[in-house]
Amino acid sequence: MKMPSFIYGTAWKKEATAALVQTAVKAGFTAIDTANQPKHYSEDLVGEALAALATEGHSRDSLFLQTKFTPLGGQDSRLPYDANADLKTQVRQSFDSSLVHLKTDRIDSYLLHGPYSYPSLGAEDWEVWSALEEIYESKRAGMIGISNVNHLQLALLIEKARIKPMVVQNRCFANRGWDRNVRQICRQQGIAYQGFSLLTANPSVVRHPKVAAIARRVGVNPEQVVLKFSMQAGMVPLTGTTSPWHMKEDLGVYKFELTAEEVNFMESIEG
Ligand SMILES: NC(=O)c1ccc[n+]([C@@H]2O[C@H](COP(=O)([O-])OP(=O)(O)OC[C@H]3O[C@@H](n4cnc5c(N)ncnc54)[C@H](OP(=O)(O)O)[C@@H]3O)[C@@H](O)[C@H]2O)c1
Repeated sequence: MKMPSFIYGTAWKKEATAALVQTAVKAGFTAIDTANQPKHYSEDLVGEALAALATEGHSRDSLFLQTKFTPLGGQDSRLPYDANADLKTQVRQSFDSSLVHLKTDRIDSYLLHGPYSYPSLGAEDWEVWSALEEIYESKRAGMIGISNVNHLQLALLIEKARIKPMVVQNRCFANRGWDRNVRQICRQQGIAYQGFSLLTANPSVVRHPKVAAIARRVGVNPEQVVLKFSMQAGMVPLTGTTSPWHMKEDLGVYKFELTAEEVNFMESIEG
């Protein structure tokens, strides 16, 4: 399935996850992001929502599902794999558990939640990536990718991996050029760039007087301007809103366009 241009994120929703995913899909979201990381995500409750939605005509085939393998350092005691197993086995166990949680036989996009090593990649990253490659080759994941990655790591992965990443998911700070270096590599390599925390990481952009002026011109609010900018700049934004009203507003970005000048201004805003 082709990646939709807007993704509903399910982090930190806890027991509200199932109801919020149903509300989001009914509001019009067709892509859901989660992770097999009980510390921050309730992947099993995403699965419950999908089952309920299926009975109301929102079939699995109409939705793009993305989940992640989270290394040990990002997990709490509720591990979805055997901590003593080798890394490839950990990925396989986590992936199989995601399929059970999400009540499906395939994932549209499967991500490594973050590299083990910084600022480059290390042996653990290569071992885990090869497990993702095998999952991709088994056709149980439509795309594979990596999150929380810097441009050096991404360039190395592209250069040395047997199967190159197809997706990147990063936090996007205006005062770092909205992750300009990573986005440039993605553009050149045809990799889908997903931006998260576009609103929460950039409160001063949301409050910027010129962003307010753009919002007034279009007749929307500043949050919508930021989300629309991200799309026009080539990103696939995530929103983690818990508000049905904000879901409608966020999806309202399809109803207007920013001018090229406004997009250029947003690109260069320092936040
Ligand atoms: N790969 C990673 O390591 C990683 C890390 C963090 C997040 N993520 C993913 O990204 C998703 C989104 O995270 P995020 O940090 O971007 O979102 P988030 O932290 O959930 O933030 C969205 C914020 O923006 C507000 N908001 C949304 N639409 C709005 C609107 N139209 N008007 C005013 N406020 C609005 C929300 O408030 P309301 O709830 O009141 O609407 C919420 O406070 C997560 O759920 C997760 O799936 C991935």
